[in-house]
Amino acid sequence: MAWLKLNDGNRIPALGLGIWQIPEETTPNVVATAIGAGYRLIDGAAIYGNESGLGAGVRQSGVARDQIFVTTKIWNDAQGHDAALRAFDASVARLGMQPDLLLIHWPCPSKGLYLDTWRALIRLREDGRVKSIGVSNFMPDQLERVIGETGVTPVVNQIELHPSFQQAELRALHNRLGIVTQSWTPLSNGACFDAPAVQAISARSGKTPAQVILRWHVQLGCSVIPRSGNPARLAQNIDVFDFALTEEEMAAMAALDAGARGGPDPMLFG
Ligand SMILES: NC(=O)c1ccc[n+]([C@@H]2O[C@H](COP(=O)([O-])OP(=O)(O)OC[C@H]3O[C@@H](n4cnc5c(N)ncnc54)[C@H](OP(=O)(O)O)[C@@H]3O)[C@@H](O)[C@H]2O)c1
Repeated sequence: MAWLKLNDGNRIPALGLGIWQIPEETTPNVVATAIGAGYRLIDGAAIYGNESGLGAGVRQSGVARDQIFVTTKIWNDAQGHDAALRAFDASVARLGMQPDLLLIHWPCPSKGLYLDTWRALIRLREDGRVKSIGVSNFMPDQLERVIGETGVTPVVNQIELHPSFQQAELRALHNRLGIVTQSWTPLSNGACFDAPAVQAISARSGKTPAQVILRWHVQLGCSVIPRSGNPARLAQNIDVFDFALTEEEMAAMAALDAGARGGPDPMLFG
């Protein structure tokens, strides 16, 4: 597994398991199976309703806790300094462990609270209750505001990113600021599996369209968190470190960008 350096001195796997929409009761087995297949990053969130299963799966895996990187997120209804601290305590209780990375799930600009929420995350890190802190779905002005007001740069911005929505400008800003880009909905539900560029790379490399797309994320320098509840696809999705896209193939992938956001607009959501 390749790991990426974070701006606080810690590191994060380049590929992990997303567990949105995985039912709480099956989450322990999915997480333990993924860890058994080599995954070392599990991306959870309070709103996914399966933090207890996440923690149980990590324990069930038998792999030492300090070898696994656990992420969770503060949901929109817990924005604000004190509410975020309480939400963190509740997440830790459900997980049965401290997460490695805590993210603000959405900026929710209409609430006007993400700066206060960010200050709570800084306090949790200063108190040694979480190793790394970051954000999700933040836009450039919001990133610059939290950094400008607090002097603390998020280690990660987890954003919607897939071949038809490539976010080149935001990725370039992340690079300038020292923020790791983490790609959510990286497979966009298979929307680009049939694209000629993906099919051509698949035929040339002998890898599946999903593997081609996940490898593309890794070569962009992103951390990527595909979800699967299926053991065969879990194994397939992590098997992307023994081949590479050529420069020409990366250019062909870049040409698939359609600026097509599939999820909510972060300026309006929450
Ligand atoms: N921060 C945010 O706001 C935010 C928003 C959305 C998602 N996320 C995170 O990002 C993670 C990934 O995003 P996502 O869950 O929306 O979608 P995704 O990972 O892009 O796609 C998941 C879908 O693709 C299928 N799939 C997985 N591997 C496959 C393969 N090799 N071949 C064919 N189909 C495959 C899965 O089905 P099977 O299960 O049947 O394999 C599932 O239906 C989430 O789980 C969550 O952790 C974060």
